Amino acid sequence: MTSNGSSAPNMPEIKFTKLFINGAFVDSISGKTFETRDPRTGEVIAHIAEGDKEDIDLAVKAAREAFDNGKWPRKSGFERGRILMKLADLIDEHTEELASLESLDSGKLFHLNKMLDVPSTADSIRYYAGAADKIHGETSKCSREFHGYTLKEPVGVVGLIIPWNFPSIMFFAKAAPALAAGCTVIVKPAEQTPLTALYYAKLAKEAGIPDGVLNVVTGFGSTAGAALSSHMNVDAISFTGSTEVGRLVMEASARSNLKPVSLELGGKSPLIIFNDADVNMAVDIAKLAVFYNKGEICIAGSRVFVQEGIYDEFIKKIDESLKDWVVGDPFDSNVHQGPQVDKKQFEKVLRYIESGKRDGATLLTGGKACGKKGYYIEPTIFTDVKEDMLIAREEIFGPVMSLMKFKTIEEAIEKANNTIYGLAAGIVTNDLNIANRVSRSIRAGMIWINCYTAFDRDCPYGGYKMSGFGRELGLHALENYLQVKSVITPIYDSPWL
Ligand code: NAI
Ligand code: MG
Repeated sequence: MTSNGSSAPNMPEIKFTKLFINGAFVDSISGKTFETRDPRTGEVIAHIAEGDKEDIDLAVKAAREAFDNGKWPRKSGFERGRILMKLADLIDEHTEELASLESLDSGKLFHLNKMLDVPSTADSIRYYAGAADKIHGETSKCSREFHGYTLKEPVGVVGLIIPWNFPSIMFFAKAAPALAAGCTVIVKPAEQTPLTALYYAKLAKEAGIPDGVLNVVTGFGSTAGAALSSHMNVDAISFTGSTEVGRLVMEASARSNLKPVSLELGGKSPLIIFNDADVNMAVDIAKLAVFYNKGEICIAGSRVFVQEGIYDEFIKKIDESLKDWVVGDPFDSNVHQGPQVDKKQFEKVLRYIESGKRDGATLLTGGKACGKKGYYIEPTIFTDVKEDMLIAREEIFGPVMSLMKFKTIEEAIEKANNTIYGLAAGIVTNDLNIANRVSRSIRAGMIWINCYTAFDRDCPYGGYKMSGFGRELGLHALENYLQVKSVITPIYDSPWL
């Protein structure tokens, strides 16, 4: 079912289109701009300043000065926390506007942005604001007559490279722990979704974050992004995006100043549904796992393994349940699935669908674009998928489910692990022994039992294998932005050699 109403009740005004460097909105040095487009129509929404190497240099200079000589890293954690709390409150005051900017730029559902993405962004800032004055070192148990302790110090100037699928959440999943730790940051939002990032820059200034502490340089990956990850004066990088670019970011670090990088990359996560599962619940979980956020989510459970005893029933029920699934305008509250973020992603997903058909998978439902304009794709399910098909191996990042059958637990575990990725996995069963055994056997950073996409700001999240390394969320995320320093001194004025 498709709804292509073009009604957009909450059309926001676009107020910020320039780079935010050292506390001010400025044009790019080249004067160039790029277009950001509305994925509902493909039409241009706004022209945004196109930052490049010279602009990154300016932002790094500002962040360096703010770190080396400014107040932010020297404030007490409590003071930094208070300012971050203020920022969270300001975000709450502007939820509606931020949620609509996010929908306009990315095609994400407005009601979910308003209910979930923007409020949880504010709450995640509060979480790290509360942690800012609880960053402790340790007392070391020295084997000789020394007193030793560790200090946790902010790592310095950090570059945060953000993807387009969760522009608000990902901005502060990185910026909130970095700022709480006392770092200064340069954020490079994805070129598809610059609008909310610039708005957050304005709110950060209003909250009292000092100039130079939070900079936002909009622009492209191969120019602005590459300049940031190869910069000699940037002390660490946190990146979320494709595995291919993750590799480039790491190479750039290796070739420049060996800055530490944390990488949250692609996935091809398994969802394993066992015979004893409640099939209706399994259907709901499977839909959430792969169609949520139009499938543009790194933890997408795009390989669905169903045990043979319920395979046919599952297929029948999921097919039926998609009859009232609505693809359409993300501002319409009846819609389940908006447009893919841009033409490139839209075409990429359609290419994978064609490859599934060509390779001999059975198309159960969907399988083509829909709507008269924009980047809409039908929720698509393939059955009889073989593990060596492209659709079962590569990250599609769209609403495409690959269904496969299995017989035994051993087979399920082996198939689930048969991937270069290791971001997440889902298990649907009421058998505690199966749940325990499978969750410990899967090489992935996040396991969901009888649920999916259930994130919590206190549960660390990140990849095994080629899905990257480093953890976001939880107190673990702070570690990406901290250094450990040991301080040692003799206890008595005795000879110490
Ligand atoms: P991408 O990896 O190119 O983009 C992510 C971010 O990296 C953007 O801010 C981009 O400007 C920046 N970037 C690109 N090249 C760079 C470089 N050489 N140096 C530094 N930064 C750079 O992803 P893209 O092309 O937008 O999407 C391609 C595929 O990547 C998607 O279809 C999906 O499979 C995957 N992806 C995964 C994400 C995740 O959440 N893990 C998020 C976005 C994309
Ligand atoms: Mg856009």
